[in-house]
Amino acid sequence: MSAIKYKRILLKLSGESLMGKQQYGIDPDMLRHYAEQIKELVDDGIEVAIVIGGGNIYRGMQAASTGFDRVQGDYMGMLATVINGLALQSALEDDNIQVKTRLVTAIDMKKIAEPYIRRKAMRHLEKGRVVIFSAGTGSPYFTTDSAAALRANEMEVDVILKGTRVDGVYSADPLKDPTATKFDTISFARVISLQLGVMDMTAFTMCQQNNVPIIVFDINDPTNLRRIVRGERVGTLVEG
Ligand code: GTP
Repeated sequence: MSAIKYKRILLKLSGESLMGKQQYGIDPDMLRHYAEQIKELVDDGIEVAIVIGGGNIYRGMQAASTGFDRVQGDYMGMLATVINGLALQSALEDDNIQVKTRLVTAIDMKKIAEPYIRRKAMRHLEKGRVVIFSAGTGSPYFTTDSAAALRANEMEVDVILKGTRVDGVYSADPLKDPTATKFDTISFARVISLQLGVMDMTAFTMCQQNNVPIIVFDINDPTNLRRIVRGERVGTLVEG
């Protein structure tokens, strides 16, 4: 078995990645699919932090009823991430998976989950618990990608793993441009100059300034996570 390259990782899961084939909400099969992969990492002794999005719930609500202002909408989105966090926590602690987890929230709701305290979250990771960070940054105007960048820095992770539906970063949209090519590695500066949408700019520059590498990879391939932590070239590595 090859050596582990990344000892502490932050996995960014979008809300949409929980929908599976549904238009909305949470697909239990997808939860199980992620929980099994995360378990493999934990069994290998890797410390796993997760930031989860909320687009599977909030966007559905937005479609059903319009007219929320930005701040209201952002708070609704943050609450959606807590719902997803609770679901993922249950999936990981299921009898068949049995991964120890702690769900933390950036907005205090102590009856439901632990409030985020940096040093406590660090200890959880050191003890091998998967820490699920929910409620984004706790502030409107920030995306869950920004929450991922923030927590990645605070938790001093080795890499951010951004799970997407495509297998990396392309020079153009591969669905629209047949000449689009995939990057194996790319620098932060090049991503910015080519205006490639890896993360929003706030999140992206936070990673750039603090030298936190990002790997963009296809979350639907169940072998990817364990290959990435062993240093195999999967997806696109953004660094330097
Ligand atoms: P250590 O004992 O410090 O290693 O950590 P621990 O998380 O096991 O200890 P603690 O006694 O803080 O937590 C026990 C359980 O209560 C865990 O499942 C925590 O997630 C949960 N918990 C701790 N603080 C809170 C809180 O403020 N709100 C909620 N809802 N749960 C909490």
